[in-house]
Amino acid sequence: MTCATAPGKIILFGEHAVVYGRPAIAAPLSQLRATAVVEDSPTPGIRLLAADLGTNILLDEAAPDDPVAAVVRQLQTAAHLPRLPDLTITITSQIPIASGLGSGAAITAAVIRALAQHLCLAHLSSDDWVSNLTYEIEKIHHGTPSGIDNTVVAYERPVYFVRQQPQNRIEPFAVAQPLRLLVADTGQSSSTKAVVGDVRRQWQADPAHFEAIFDGCGRIARQARQAIETGDLTQVGQLMDENHRLLQEMTVSSAALDGLVLAARAAGALGAKLSGAGRGGNMIALVTTAGETAVTQSLYQAGARAVFSTVLASTSPIPDNEI
Ligand code: MEV
Repeated sequence: MTCATAPGKIILFGEHAVVYGRPAIAAPLSQLRATAVVEDSPTPGIRLLAADLGTNILLDEAAPDDPVAAVVRQLQTAAHLPRLPDLTITITSQIPIASGLGSGAAITAAVIRALAQHLCLAHLSSDDWVSNLTYEIEKIHHGTPSGIDNTVVAYERPVYFVRQQPQNRIEPFAVAQPLRLLVADTGQSSSTKAVVGDVRRQWQADPAHFEAIFDGCGRIARQARQAIETGDLTQVGQLMDENHRLLQEMTVSSAALDGLVLAARAAGALGAKLSGAGRGGNMIALVTTAGETAVTQSLYQAGARAVFSTVLASTSPIPDNEI
């Protein structure tokens, strides 16, 4: 039996604009994880079990667009294996689906890692490969993903990310003062593919306006990185507020998200914004240790379905060339 896990993620700055080549900052949510367990099976075929997704099928019977089946086929192709042994693959996840926390990417990454390890394909279970293969699956389900989600869940590190050719710019950064963040769920699910597609349509209809918004998001992400590296939490909060305003201009916020953002700020958060694709899902608020309880209460009063806290702090130093 082989077990592997992958974390959820939050986007701190730059969602959507990152699809158009502007920098963004994201961090793993290590306390919310997807888990994949791979076992040899006494019965023929590969059985895929994912109770949360309502999946209990044999790989051979799965529809071409079945998300879990696509992951297994992707790995088989990458490994150049004409056939796979008889297996049971069981997936569970603590990450709410369609809520902007990277549940799809985390499930994919966990399955790839568990399967690669079980089949002794050491090179395919490296962070690089897990990220690349997860990106291929994200393309099937999301159309034009930037690559930030697969990067964060595969490397499980905060990253400053720029989508670019021939290779994305992926940089770890220092966190001078830990960032205490509340993550609050509107309870409304949202399709990343639909929202990203709608932003694209708006950009095509009015490129000058949208390029200006994306430029603003890019500037904010660059300044935010500096503020995080120097420990200026007040500025980090202000930049979150600014980023949320630009996301509203992109029309990807919602009444529920705006309500939670306002409630967080009114209760003393240093800043707040939606996180991820928007139009539902989660928002994040930067809080002080002393202010955390008041903001949490205010978020629940404003209708949050769930609120939890996470701290972004510097991890062990990473050489630049590691990711
Ligand atoms: C989704 O987590 C972030 C988006 O920017 C899409 C992407 O980067 O692929 C909305």
